[in-house]
Amino acid sequence: EQRGVIFDLDGVIVDTAKFHFLAWRKLANDLGFDITLEQNEQLKGVSRIHSLEQILNWGGKSISKEEFDRLMITKNEDYLSRISGMSEKDLLPGVKKVLDYLTENNIPYSLGSASKNARPILKSLNIYDRFEAIVDGNDVSKAKPDPEVFLIASEKLKIKPENCVVFEDSVAGVEAAKRANMLSIGIGQEDVLREADHIFADFTQIELEFIEKIVTN
Ligand code: G6P
Ligand code: MG
Repeated sequence: EQRGVIFDLDGVIVDTAKFHFLAWRKLANDLGFDITLEQNEQLKGVSRIHSLEQILNWGGKSISKEEFDRLMITKNEDYLSRISGMSEKDLLPGVKKVLDYLTENNIPYSLGSASKNARPILKSLNIYDRFEAIVDGNDVSKAKPDPEVFLIASEKLKIKPENCVVFEDSVAGVEAAKRANMLSIGIGQEDVLREADHIFADFTQIELEFIEKIVTN
């Protein structure tokens, strides 16, 4: 049966995860507290709204709805300014090789990201047109670890969930893949992503033979 692949964006295709962290950290600092890299792991894969709720919770802050909306806008503007000028050279090492392999072998792939900035980011990386489907933060109502984003991607690819492979760098995303009944490949630290079916530090550690194995029967 036909297999398909679903890629998370931030921290998998491009190293925007550090810019999300810096922008959230600035927001916290402006409110008078700090967030750690360890806390940031819990924000990876999590929607903008839920991230801000979590951060305010850590800082013990409660704010009005207006202030909340304002902070979301400020954070996104800060984030966008940090990633402006991104181009093809910002694709994480090894990613291009895997996309090329999938394209050449007619294995369809989709994006499955919580980000509302995903489409413009894929365009600036010059890989937007290569995706068979794109599912991002504008298309889902339930955030990871809910499997919705990956299930919609599987529908759009017209490939059964159990035949989909997910690449994820976040704890929430690996859990979402599991709940969607998909094979999960963790990209990052082994101690963080231990629930994943396979874990690699980054795409340069993945042999094409491995990709071949997981996308064929
Ligand atoms: C991804 C990232 C999160 C980010 C979320 C929303 O899941 O891992 O760090 O907060 O997307 O992104 P957005 O670009 O819509 O603020
Ligand atoms: Mg991610």
